[in-house]
Amino acid sequence: MELEKLVGTEITVNTNAQPKTISTSGKILIGLTGGLGIAFSVICGPFVAPAFRKYCLPYVPATTTQLENILSVLKNSDKSGKLLDIGSGDGRIVVAAARNGFRSDGVELNPWLVQYSRISALTNGVSSRTGFYRKDLWKFDVSSYKHIVIFGVEQMMAELEKKLNVEMKNDSQIIVCRFPLPNLKASRIIGGGVDTVWVYNIKKPL
Ligand SMILES: C[S@@+](CC[C@H](N)C(=O)[O-])C[C@H]1O[C@@H](n2cnc3c(N)ncnc32)[C@H](O)[C@@H]1O
Repeated sequence: MELEKLVGTEITVNTNAQPKTISTSGKILIGLTGGLGIAFSVICGPFVAPAFRKYCLPYVPATTTQLENILSVLKNSDKSGKLLDIGSGDGRIVVAAARNGFRSDGVELNPWLVQYSRISALTNGVSSRTGFYRKDLWKFDVSSYKHIVIFGVEQMMAELEKKLNVEMKNDSQIIVCRFPLPNLKASRIIGGGVDTVWVYNIKKPL
């Protein structure tokens, strides 16, 4: 009544109107887009997650030149000790080291990259000489490794250097790609620019 007075017109209500329903194809479309959205988040989530950590270490695979520089160091290294790639990505360094006679492991946070690495090791015939751990590198004990490879970011290198200094044994070796360790003196520097590789020898009092 009040509303009628205000607008000055008669309001009619159609009591026979049917409630609107969603067609089957509409429901399928909603389900598909929802499902695709969830699948996209599940797959992409682990690639975005590093951005929210203390040190943002994104997935950037080693270049062919970087890999060649690492292998040139390993060519003259003691193969009796195990190798670890910290933040092993798609496993290319671990697989290449295993193909060159090393028992090698990778530690990697991204579950898709860990699965990919295992398949890559299998197709390259080195799965029995490789291991891939889905773990946080900061919580991973590196003391059993003689050779450590790391392609990190500049911001994390000081803290990583401390961890490696504490955990690594005498006569072990660190191979660093792109960003050097801030305090240790490199025994060798190979290549240049973004493909530079630094080699450090850990010498501890016995
Ligand atoms: C720069 S990429 C290097 C990949 C590989 N080492 C290579 O050279 O091809 C760094 C990798 O570290 C992984 N990562 C980032 N934060 C990590 C963490 N806290 N623990 C383990 N892996 C991590 C990323 O997912 C990424 O694959």
